[in-house]
Amino acid sequence: MADERKRILTGVRPTGSLHLGHYVGALENWIRLQQEYECYFLIADFQVSDHADEMDLVRSSVFEVALDWLAVGLDPDGSHFVIESLVPEHAELTTWLSWWIPLGRLQRNPTLKAEMADLESKSVPVAFFNYPVMQTANILMPKAHLVPVGDDQLPHIEMTREVARRFNRLFETEVFPIPEPLVGRVPRLVGVDGNAKMSKSMDNAIYLKDDAETVTRKVMGMYTDPTRLRATDPGHVEGNPVFMYHDAFNPDTAEVDDLKERYVAGKVGDVEVKQKLARVLNAFLDPIRERRAHFEAHPELVRTALAEGTARSRTVAQATMADVRAAMGVNYLE
Ligand code: TRP
Repeated sequence: MADERKRILTGVRPTGSLHLGHYVGALENWIRLQQEYECYFLIADFQVSDHADEMDLVRSSVFEVALDWLAVGLDPDGSHFVIESLVPEHAELTTWLSWWIPLGRLQRNPTLKAEMADLESKSVPVAFFNYPVMQTANILMPKAHLVPVGDDQLPHIEMTREVARRFNRLFETEVFPIPEPLVGRVPRLVGVDGNAKMSKSMDNAIYLKDDAETVTRKVMGMYTDPTRLRATDPGHVEGNPVFMYHDAFNPDTAEVDDLKERYVAGKVGDVEVKQKLARVLNAFLDPIRERRAHFEAHPELVRTALAEGTARSRTVAQATMADVRAAMGVNYLE
């Protein structure tokens, strides 16, 4: 039966496991919206040219990401898990859409600029520079209405809206809906080291697959109020990563309020605040770990989810490409 729901497309690059920042920044919305929308969750393996010397990592990450998705409760019966490069229409649409993205527009994209500056190798592969263009193709391929992402992705979505409008206007068509971004509850979760963003490359992440002991160790070592030398010193809650995590993950707001009050008054030590946080995070992660273990024991389920989602995505992609070719008049032989 045809699926009449509006569509979501969103995704990640397969460069490692997912962490708490992914959860509150985006995944939580994906889980919540997957009934209401027909969801395409993309593993963007065309977009990892900065990891070209680590193809083993890319390959294993495709499955790690799918496992993390299943573990948090994304449901491959209603949603589609897609491996980008196995839907080669993405490359085709990228080529067409790049006609309408001015070079200067890409050069000014703040997320891309920052990432290019961070690239370890000095030269920037053309594919890396081009990845936001490919991302516009990813989003427009299933004619997505909504793109739930972390806030660093907003410039790419703005570009997608522009290219969709240009295409529609130029060819006097409505091929592409204009997609809306949706940012998560905590757009940018700080790292355990107090750095502005939790990320794998900064080695400051708590992973969804970390075991309880690892989580506790990371929490007990977290950066906290550096001005506080002993538990009786009045502490700072504002900007303190330990309290930011309490705010993000502790459902017991009365406990959090009490801890904050005592912290500011110099009546609770960092150890107790951290122990409580470790308990909260482990309680949050326990059901995720359980589901992950189930799917780890049944790798054929992970494979099937990827195969079926990718096949469905390919059918949709071929329909979109037919529309694009017809609109542009490049369906020469039809
Ligand atoms: N660039 C995104 C990231 O680094 C991943 C991604 C690829 C994506 N294609 C997408 C996100 C399409 C949203 C929509 O996280």
